[in-house]
Amino acid sequence: MKTIIEPFRIKTVEPLRITSREERERALKQAHFNLFGLKARDVIIDLLTDSGTGAMSTRQWAALMMGDESYAGSESFFELEQVVRDLTGYRHVIPVHQGRAAERILFGILGAEGKKIPNNTHFDTTKANIEFTGAKAVDLPLAQALEPSAEAPFKGNMDLEALESFLEETPKEEIPLGLATVTNNTVGGQPVSLANLREVSRLYRAKGVPFFLDAARFAENAWFIKQREEGHADRGLEEIVRELFSLADGCLISAKKDGLVNIGGILAMNDGELAQRCRDLLILTEGFPTYGGLAGRDMAALAQGLREVLDPDYLSYRHASARYLAEALERAGVPTVKPAGIHAVYVDARAFLPQIPPEELPGQSLCVELYLRGGIRAVEIGTLMFGGTDPATGRPTPSELDLVRLTLPRRVYTQSHFDWVIEVFEDLVRDAPALRGYRIVREAPFLRAFTARLEPL
Ligand code: F0G
Repeated sequence: MKTIIEPFRIKTVEPLRITSREERERALKQAHFNLFGLKARDVIIDLLTDSGTGAMSTRQWAALMMGDESYAGSESFFELEQVVRDLTGYRHVIPVHQGRAAERILFGILGAEGKKIPNNTHFDTTKANIEFTGAKAVDLPLAQALEPSAEAPFKGNMDLEALESFLEETPKEEIPLGLATVTNNTVGGQPVSLANLREVSRLYRAKGVPFFLDAARFAENAWFIKQREEGHADRGLEEIVRELFSLADGCLISAKKDGLVNIGGILAMNDGELAQRCRDLLILTEGFPTYGGLAGRDMAALAQGLREVLDPDYLSYRHASARYLAEALERAGVPTVKPAGIHAVYVDARAFLPQIPPEELPGQSLCVELYLRGGIRAVEIGTLMFGGTDPATGRPTPSELDLVRLTLPRRVYTQSHFDWVIEVFEDLVRDAPALRGYRIVREAPFLRAFTARLEPL
């Protein structure tokens, strides 16, 4: 088999600062063992997130220069509107500065005390924005999705039986909206099949509930449909994406992922009356409806990013990078979430460091060690992020899983950068049994992972 190469060459370079172990020890202490507290200049390979961290193409940089900075009626808005309409088929296109701005606007209108919004799995800002309105975010993932080692092609799917019972039990007036997230980030970036989405769409429509996609990674999801779902291998990605969006009535998009830009988002829909209410709210906090908190040049770069993201060579390379990393880690004896997704490789830290109980944050222990050894910044998605304290006993409560996400920025790192990450892991495997846990010494009342201070045990 031939190597799948990066389908780009490098024209501008940004130097990486190769730090020493001593420098990293100092930086880590200053950050109170929380990698969110590090200065980016002290990180060698930054795998914290794939959100807004990608590299733009020559055509996108050229588009920036063409951005129309008019307050009202910007040419760049009309260009973006056309590209999004062609891609999704939705009539109304509202630009926003990022995904959570679209969430706040849409749920601000549709959410309220006593309402429930189902989804395969809500991303954390989505859940937070729903619950901020008093509504409840209901997760209906497959049971398999919570088993890291279970292999299934579409582990991101909605549990259809659970959705059916939820819709049967809940009065229509209590469900202002139904969601599905593609790909399902929270369960490991796992894709959702078209067959599953067709059923989800049918169930929502039968109940008379509007259906929106959280489509931050629509292109990556479409790639998996083409690769893994029977009957789609010969279809074009544009056609698959069109069908995906046609099953829903609208979408929220954080363009910082598959929009291939560093900032941007989209709220799009068919319902003209709802769109008007969204625009009214947009003006209040984001900006006029033809820019929505973005500069004209941001919209121009996004329009171009959306034209590029369905390139099969790009998606094939991106998937190859994730697979390359995941397979090498497995060979080295590091358990990962299976099958490998595309935007990230997730390490099962609880299985990898069985000597560290969940309350002692095995995921955080692994993150700290990756940074100390290789200057790699990964993100804990486990007890530090989602666990808490039992109000009755005052004891820490673990989250369902303790994972570490190695998130792959788009078009940023090459195979040798991944080789570095693999070598750090290979080295670490020998010493893994000696790693110790961490204890939280200070935490905020919500979203504690971002600012918590920690101490090694
Ligand atoms: N929906 C999904 C599925 C996401 O993954 C994200 C962000 C959002 C919505 C919110 O978008 O950040 O533009 O406001 N995910 C990033 C991550 C932050 O690291 O996974 P945003």
